[in-house]
Amino acid sequence: MKIALGSDHGGFELKEKIKKHLQKKGIEVVDCGTNTSESVDYPDFGYKTAKMIVTDQCDRGILVCGTGIGISIAANKVKGIRCAVCSDCYSARMSRQHNNANMLALGGRVVGEDLAIEIVDIFANTEFEGGRHARRVNKISDIETGNMI
Ligand code: RB5
Repeated sequence: MKIALGSDHGGFELKEKIKKHLQKKGIEVVDCGTNTSESVDYPDFGYKTAKMIVTDQCDRGILVCGTGIGISIAANKVKGIRCAVCSDCYSARMSRQHNNANMLALGGRVVGEDLAIEIVDIFANTEFEGGRHARRVNKISDIETGNMI
């Protein structure tokens, strides 16, 4: 599994911790920045990281901004992205099992490091259940492509 990481300044510190954690577990990581805690604009990094997923250069992506909200909104504008903001383990599990989320967004100013790492592990290790959930996820794609009836 190859995971793309991206953050703004509000998520920089947590993104670095997540990067170290994943690398320690032997997971390949592509860091799309930002690389300092200097103020930047989250859409730049949400977009850049999301592109890694939809171009098949990475399997999944993890984004961090102050709340996880802005950067997830930006990523979800990229066709093919299903980015879930999660602050708890249950939502992280469901985002994979039911929604086939291909990106996770975290709030660096919302979740503590230990919880964030648990959420990341769940996101990385949980599979999509398919079945009735596939039908629903396909309808999301239909909305995106203008084919929803
Ligand atoms: C930056 O101050 C902050 O607005 C950003 O990190 C994020 O929380 C936006 O949703």
